[in-house]
Amino acid sequence: MCLCNLSIIIVFLAFSTSSVSGEDVCVKKSPCSCVFPNGTGIDLTPSNTTTFYSAATYQEMKKGLQYRLITYYFHPCTDLKFPINATVNVTNRCTEPLALCSHVYTFDNVNTTVLFNVSSNHYDNIGYSEKTYFSNDGRSIIYDNKPSNNTILLVCSQGENRLQPYSLDDPHEVVLAFYSKDACLRQIEEIGRSTGSTLLVVFFSIVIFYLVLGVCTKKFLMGATGIEVIPNLAFWTDLPNLVRDGWAFAINGFKLPPRVGATSSPDPNSYDSI
Ligand SMILES: *[C@@H]1O[C@H](CO)[C@@H](O)[C@H](O)[C@H]1NC(C)=O
Ligand SMILES: *[C@@H]1O[C@H](CO)[C@@H](O)[C@H](O)[C@H]1NC(C)=O
Ligand SMILES: *[C@@H]1O[C@H](CO)[C@@H](O)[C@H](O)[C@H]1NC(C)=O
Repeated sequence: MCLCNLSIIIVFLAFSTSSVSGEDVCVKKSPCSCVFPNGTGIDLTPSNTTTFYSAATYQEMKKGLQYRLITYYFHPCTDLKFPINATVNVTNRCTEPLALCSHVYTFDNVNTTVLFNVSSNHYDNIGYSEKTYFSNDGRSIIYDNKPSNNTILLVCSQGENRLQPYSLDDPHEVVLAFYSKDACLRQIEEIGRSTGSTLLVVFFSIVIFYLVLGVCTKKFLMGATGIEVIPNLAFWTDLPNLVRDGWAFAINGFKLPPRVGATSSPDPNSYDSI
C-alpha cells in the first residue's frame, strides 16, 4: 500500500512542478523581438522606420558654468546609417550603421553674461543591433557596448512612438525609455515550444496516474496478483499486435495487405476480421 501511495505522490509532484516551473523567460528571436513559452512576446519590428527616434535633455555642470545638451538617437531592430550634418569642430564616432548614438554638446559659460562657448561637440556610437540581449521579463533590450551597457526600457503605450531619457546618472549605463504599442505583450507564435512539451508531460502523467491507480485498485480491491494487477491486461498484451498491424497497413499505403492464396481462411490479424 505504501508503495502505491508513494507513486501517486510522485506523479502529483511531477505534475505540479512542471506547471509551476518558475519564472518564464522571454527568449530573443531577433534584435528586437522575444517570445515567452506560451507564444506571447514583444516585437518592435513595426517601429523599425527609416529614421532614428530621438530624445534630448540638458545637464547643468560645474554649478552653472557649463551646460550639456545630450541627444540620444535610437533605431530599433536594425542598424542604420546615422545622418549627421557637416559642422565644424564635430567629433563624429557615429559613422558606421548603428542602433544607438549619443550626441553631447558642451557649452562653457564664459562670463557671467549669457555668452557661451562650445567646448566640445561629439557623436558617440553606443550600440549595435547585433549586440543586444533581452531581460528575462522581456521589458528591456540591453545594448552590450563594452565596457558599457545601455538599456532601452520597453514601455507599452498607445499613441506615437517616442523615446525619453530615463536614467543618465551613470554614463556607462544609460537607460532610455521607448514608449510604443509595439512594446506591449501580444501573441507572436501560435503555440509555444514548451506548450507542446507541457501537453506531453500532462499526457504521460495521466497515463502513469491511470496505471498506478489501476494497479492499486486491482491489487487491493480485487485481490489480483502477479501480472493480473495491470489494468486492461488484454488490451495491453494485444497492443504489440495492433501496432504491428497498424504499421503494415500504413506501409501498404492504407490498403489491405495482399491475399496469399484466394482460398485461405481470413487471417485473425487482418483488417477483414476487425
Ligand atoms: C504568457 O506568459 C507571460 C510570461 O509568463 C505572461 O506574462 C503572459 O500573461 C502570458 N500570456 C498568456 C496569454 O497566458
Ligand atoms: C540635420 O539637419 C536637418 C535640417 O536642418 C535636421 O532636420 C536634422 O535633424 C539634422 N540632423 C541631425 C542629426 O542633427
Ligand atoms: C552588462 O550587463 C550584464 C548583464 O546584466 C552584466 O553581466 C555586465 O557586467 C554588465 N556590464 C557592465 C559594464 O555593466
